[in-house]
Amino acid sequence: MDLFDGRRRRLLQLAGVSPAIALMGPACAQQSGGSGMNAEGQPMPARVRLPSAPQEKGRSDSVGVAIVGLGGFALNQMMPSFARAGRAHIAGLVSGNAEKAKRVGDAYGVPEDARYSYETFDQIASDERIEAVYIVLPNGLHADWTEKAFAAGKHVLCEKPMALSSEECERMMAAARAADRKLMVAYRCHFEPYNLKAMALMDDEAVGAIRLIRTEQHYVMGPTSPRENWRANRALAGRGPLEDYGIYGLQSALYLSNEMPHTIQAYTQQPDNDPRFEDIVASVQTQMQFPSGAVAQLSTSYDTQGANRVMVQGRAGTLEMDPATSYEGIQMSLRRGRSVEALNPGDTGTQFAAQLDHLADAIRDNVDLRTPGAMGLRDLRLIEAIYAAAETGAPVGLLPDGRLKPGNG
Ligand SMILES: NC(=O)c1ccc[n+]([C@@H]2O[C@H](COP(=O)([O-])OP(=O)(O)OC[C@H]3O[C@@H](n4cnc5c(N)ncnc54)[C@H](OP(=O)(O)O)[C@@H]3O)[C@@H](O)[C@H]2O)c1
Repeated sequence: MDLFDGRRRRLLQLAGVSPAIALMGPACAQQSGGSGMNAEGQPMPARVRLPSAPQEKGRSDSVGVAIVGLGGFALNQMMPSFARAGRAHIAGLVSGNAEKAKRVGDAYGVPEDARYSYETFDQIASDERIEAVYIVLPNGLHADWTEKAFAAGKHVLCEKPMALSSEECERMMAAARAADRKLMVAYRCHFEPYNLKAMALMDDEAVGAIRLIRTEQHYVMGPTSPRENWRANRALAGRGPLEDYGIYGLQSALYLSNEMPHTIQAYTQQPDNDPRFEDIVASVQTQMQFPSGAVAQLSTSYDTQGANRVMVQGRAGTLEMDPATSYEGIQMSLRRGRSVEALNPGDTGTQFAAQLDHLADAIRDNVDLRTPGAMGLRDLRLIEAIYAAAETGAPVGLLPDGRLKPGNG
């Protein structure tokens, strides 16, 4: 599948405690399949607002989704957004923390017998209320739990990054094929009005031939260590901020250039004597060269003042987004000559529900997924190439599918 062709086509179209959970303690752990890493219940995140009344189901053909992992993003962004989705509803919970699952399940009206633990997860196979599973666990658990979900016969929406390696992505895609189920990566910007508008502008050559793309995804990680925070733990997070926050810059560079890079150079930084960066790198700087001659400079860091910017400069203009990929409040301007136009293409907050409805449309109507497993695999190949370039200190050449050219790396 040509992921860029898919995008062009789309842009044209655009004009209580169950018996299962009662078995577990408040912080239950379950060994994953191939990775050897444990899924372990965690405390309720701070400042979670639970709904005061259960959500309505929406359309009669709404798809029932089980949420796997009740962490900050699931509870604060995705679960509340089901209320805005017409064709998807929360039908089950999977958590290693029974008390939290009870509070959340009661608030969202999830029946007690649709609340599972990591130990009882396999029982969802016979739960017909659940058709799809949303994997919102730490990155290093995505592959194993996606495979388990396919083994249970469910469709999967998997958070980004799809996995920690291209090999894991290929395993996940093979499991989807074997189960004949959908595998979608939760790349929410493909459903976000500003980013969709930016893609359309680039297709219309609004800045002329693209010369330079710059992306910055930074924040300063508070004091922590790999034992305290999975994002600082290489086995659970990957090698650093690129897999977590920087993946937004990588994605932007691809969907705005509409090209695959042929060459990558990169540099990583890992300070000594900082427990935050015992396991992972602090920063990743990347330069990608595209066949058109355009260059993308990607910067991502867990140790640089907060930024979430994307800029595309062409021969005829500049598109700027700041913030570029946030949950709300995205701002975008287009400069051509002396004119600067602020663009307001829609409500950023619709991205989460639109993503859920797209999954449902793929399941019910077999529409092509905008963000299929193949896209997650492509991105993991590029991430691997970025780290290979950083390790060698020399540019690496890429095949059109993102794999390293033989003889590199
Ligand atoms: N698309 C986006 O904009 C976006 C934003 C943020 C995060 N994400 C992605 O969503 C995923 C989760 O991120 P998050 O920020 O929600 O993380 P989080 O707040 O730390 O929550 C992760 C949840 O996973 C479960 N879990 C199972 N085993 C775990 C282990 N060994 N260590 C820690 N947690 C474990 C826990 O749920 P239980 O206690 O219920 O078992 C925990 O609450 C990541 O893949 C991340 O990249 C995406």
